[in-house]
Formats: sequence, structure tokens, C-alpha cells
Amino acid sequence: MNAISRLATVISLASLLPVSAFPVSALAADSKGSVEVVHWWTSGGEKAAVDVLKAQVEKDGFTWKDGAVAGGGGATAMTVLKSRAVAGNPPGVAQIKGPDIQEWASTGLLDTDALKDVAKAEKWDSLLDKKVSDTVKFEGNYVAVPVNIHRVNWLWINPEVFKKAGIEKAPTTLQEFYAAGDKLKAAGFIALAHGGQPWQDSTVFEAVVLSVMGVDGYKKALVDLDNAALTGPEMVKSLTELKKVATYMDVDGKGQDWNLEAAKVINGKAGMQIMGDWAKSEWTAAKKVAGKDYECVAFPGTDKAFTYNIDSLAVFKQKDKGTAAAQQDIAKVVLGENFQKVFSINKGSIPVRIDMLSDMDKYGFDSCAQTAAKDFLADAKSGGLQPSMAHNMATTLAVQGAFFDVVTNYINDPKADPATAAKQLGTAVKSAK
Ligand code: GAL
Repeated sequence: MNAISRLATVISLASLLPVSAFPVSALAADSKGSVEVVHWWTSGGEKAAVDVLKAQVEKDGFTWKDGAVAGGGGATAMTVLKSRAVAGNPPGVAQIKGPDIQEWASTGLLDTDALKDVAKAEKWDSLLDKKVSDTVKFEGNYVAVPVNIHRVNWLWINPEVFKKAGIEKAPTTLQEFYAAGDKLKAAGFIALAHGGQPWQDSTVFEAVVLSVMGVDGYKKALVDLDNAALTGPEMVKSLTELKKVATYMDVDGKGQDWNLEAAKVINGKAGMQIMGDWAKSEWTAAKKVAGKDYECVAFPGTDKAFTYNIDSLAVFKQKDKGTAAAQQDIAKVVLGENFQKVFSINKGSIPVRIDMLSDMDKYGFDSCAQTAAKDFLADAKSGGLQPSMAHNMATTLAVQGAFFDVVTNYINDPKADPATAAKQLGTAVKSAK
């Protein structure tokens, strides 16, 4: 049974149950309508970003019910969302990404009408790249609004720590990365801040695959799920390098949240972190300045590539007219110019609107965001723009889960063998497809 029919089977039960609406008593007397938004933006920096949306929606006269579910990468939020759907009580809006939007839409629970008018009035088709709009449309209709674009293949550096450890420049190759890691360790620092949660392990894994196998190899293995690429010598080499990268990881990082690990780089305890640019939200919240207090560089060997991760808010069918109005308000606000700017500055991302991406200076974005936008546009032309596997843009959650299991077991098993792990990847992905 494929992933779509698996989700559909579970959720078809939900159609027997009534579609939820907020109890009227939950509404403030003068509220135009109430909407619950399920998301996983709970770190300090992420919260600052989502609060921008909440404030605007409330200003517009609606009641925002915060459905935040802690847990980086969103795995817990997705579990909660599925059980809410099965119970016939989905929220009005939920953060869902990539191919999973199609999977959810095919269950019939997403609303294919709610965003029609706003998308037309706000000219979404001309504001968005087709690749992006296709992701958030189902059978030609918008079922979600894209919020922002994150780049995943970044390396975050504390330059002061580098200086103390005698490292002169940011590493651009894996060999330089290892040399920097050795110096950091020798000087008593944590070389690589890393929380050992599966999604974080796979964030590092995909960066290493991109570095070793290049854009074509990455695409074949992690996007096309080609068995030869998943099990071949280049994957074995990637896994060998991954094991070496893992020797620099924080020994206290097992099960640790990404933002607590980011804090170790910010506070000068660690030298580096491999993380998408939501990590920048923590630096911003700590009032640190890009290019001065910290450096963002592409993960060594990946500067000609951009693994993208687009956050989107999907709309669920609701009976209550006020909730439907609130959904439309959220959608309108999200793709508005001012929100695109303020949210991304807080979140560490770049706008999803193409007109803004080519004029980043105008909006006061910092050097990391300017680099991201420039690379996004260049890599879109060269083919270097690839969806992130670890962040659910390349595959469904089921296939992603197969990668997560093999990669995390491999990193944690002291006796693990890269050739065996590559074979396991092939088998696990095949059965999850
Ligand atoms: C990503 C998500 C980001 C950020 C990150 C950490 O999957 O797209 O917006 O929240 O997880 O939780």
C-alpha cells in the first residue's frame, strides 16, 4: 500500500465524524471568527516570527487559537495532526509541507475552495515560482499558502571561537572541516553543536550526501530514490564521511533540541552547527549580527547547491463561516509584502515571493539572507536547487521515516558498516515507497 492510500485509509474514518467548529463560547464577543493554527514554531526565534502572524490576524479582528506542538522538524506536530484528523477534529490551519500536502489533500480533508478568491485577487500565480505553487495546489486549486523559503545546507560558525582555536577561515571542503574540528576539540570547544534527534541526524546526512555525490547524485538518491544511487559506492563514501563528521558532534547532544545546540554556538561553547537557516532565528533573537557575530557559509562542498525547505500553511474544511473568513485572512496576510519581510527577518528564511527575492536590499535583509536569495535564483537556473529530504520536501513522511531510521541507527552504532547501511537504505526506502 503506498503512502497516500495509507494516510487516506486511516483518515477516511474521519469523514464519518462531524467537521469541527469552535464552540461559540470560545469567541470574544467582537471576534469575526476563530481559527486554530497547528505549527511547530516554538523556539524563541521561531515564536517571535509566528507572533507576527498572530498579531496581524488578531488586528484584523479574528481570534487566533495557538496549536503549537513542540518538536523541531515537526514529527510530533504531524502525529498530533493525524490523530486530530482521525478524531474528526482537524484544526482550521496546519503547517504541512511538500508532498504531504498532496497526501492530505487526497483524503478530502483540505479545502479546495477556501483560497480561490484570495489567490485570484492577490495574483498568487504570478507571485510564486511554478515549482512552489505546484506544491501547494491540489488538482489546480490552492489548498495551502506558502510562507517562506529556508535553505538547509548551511554551516553556522562562531568566528570568535574559531579565532581562539587558531582557525583562519571557514572550511570549504570536508578535509578543511575536519581540520577545523580537530583544532576546536584541541582548544577545548565542542566542535560541532548537534542534537542527536533523527531529523537533525538526517539534516547532516543530506548535507554530506550533497557534498560527496554532488547535485546529480543527491537528486538521484534522495529525490528520485534510485536504488543504484542509494546503494552504490558514492553512497558508501557519503556514509563513511558521515561517520567521520559524527566524531565532531557534541557528546552531550543526544536527544537535544536544535535550538539548545544553536545556543552553544551563540554562547561560545561550540564552534559550528550544521542546520537550516531557522538557526538564524536564534542568533537574531540573541541580537547577534550576521557577518559580524556569526558566519553563515554553505556546508563544505555544497556552495553551488541549495537544498530548499518551504513552510506552508494548509487549510482544512470547516463549517463555521467565521473560521473560513479567518483562514482567508491568514492566507492574505501571509503572502503580503510586509509580512513576507518581517516574518522572514525573524525566522531566518527568505521570502517566497519572486519579486522580493530579486530585490532583497530594498527590504533590509542581512548578508545571510542576501546570499540565500542570490543562490536560490542562481541554483534554480543551474539545477542546483533541490528539495530537502530531511525536511519533507523531497518525499512523503513514510519514505523520510525510512531514511531517518537507517541514518540514526548508523550514526549511533559504533560497529556500523557503511556498505551494509547503504544496502539497508535501499531496502527501507523501497518498502516505504
Ligand atoms: C523545519 C521547518 C522550519 C523550522 C525547523 C525546526 O522543518 O521547516 O520552519 O521550524 O523545522 O523546527
